[in-house]
Amino acid sequence: VRTIVCTSLKGGSGKSTIVVNLAVEAERQGLGPVAIADTDSPQGSASHWWNIRDAHAPLFARELEVEGIELLVVDTAPQVAQDKIIRRADFVIIPVRPSPNDLRAVGETISVVEKCKKPFCFVVNGVKPRATITGETVRVLEKHGAVAPVLLGDRVDFAVSMIDGLAVSEMAPASRSAREIAELWKYVDTQMRK
Ligand SMILES: Nc1ncnc2c1ncn2[C@@H]1O[C@H](COP(=O)(O)OP(=O)(O)OP(=O)(O)O)[C@@H](O)[C@H]1O
Ligand SMILES: [Mg+2]
Repeated sequence: VRTIVCTSLKGGSGKSTIVVNLAVEAERQGLGPVAIADTDSPQGSASHWWNIRDAHAPLFARELEVEGIELLVVDTAPQVAQDKIIRRADFVIIPVRPSPNDLRAVGETISVVEKCKKPFCFVVNGVKPRATITGETVRVLEKHGAVAPVLLGDRVDFAVSMIDGLAVSEMAPASRSAREIAELWKYVDTQMRK
């Protein structure tokens, strides 16, 4: 089983959103069975999403060790040291919003991931059209590691779909958000196989 861990010590960067959407996308691409795991127990965004969901896939993994799945996508909490969980990863995703605060905070996350010596990429999330800070964010992050070539826009689909336990591809299959997730999955899958 391959394990993806989505982590950042900055709250609200998009971890849970990315976890559920990539899990659904991987399943759609025939790479299942896929399971999500939620290690952010106080908040439980991914668990909540799964509980209100009708579809059976992806599965929900109560432990990080599950049998019979091909891919495990793990959501994490923004506060605690995540070393133990990151050590379980084959690939790590670090979502970063293009904002000065998020950029300032990302150093701490990078040092944890680097200490664990895991392959990782940044995903710039919540991009507003024509904002110059987007390019600056990409340039700063590129000094530290790979930045996913697809940026996730600031799109209401991402918030609304979560409320109904759906992925953007299920709520709005022809949307830009769905296309972004499909491209992001393609990139992550390729990087993970290297
Ligand atoms: N690309 C986006 N466009 C619009 N809204 C977004 C986007 N990404 C995330 N959001 C919204 O921003 C909020 C935070 O996202 P999310 O819960 O995925 O972040 P998180 O990193 O898991 O947060 P936490 O650190 O609190 O667990 C949510 O309300 C979510 O719906
Ligand atoms: Mg979360």
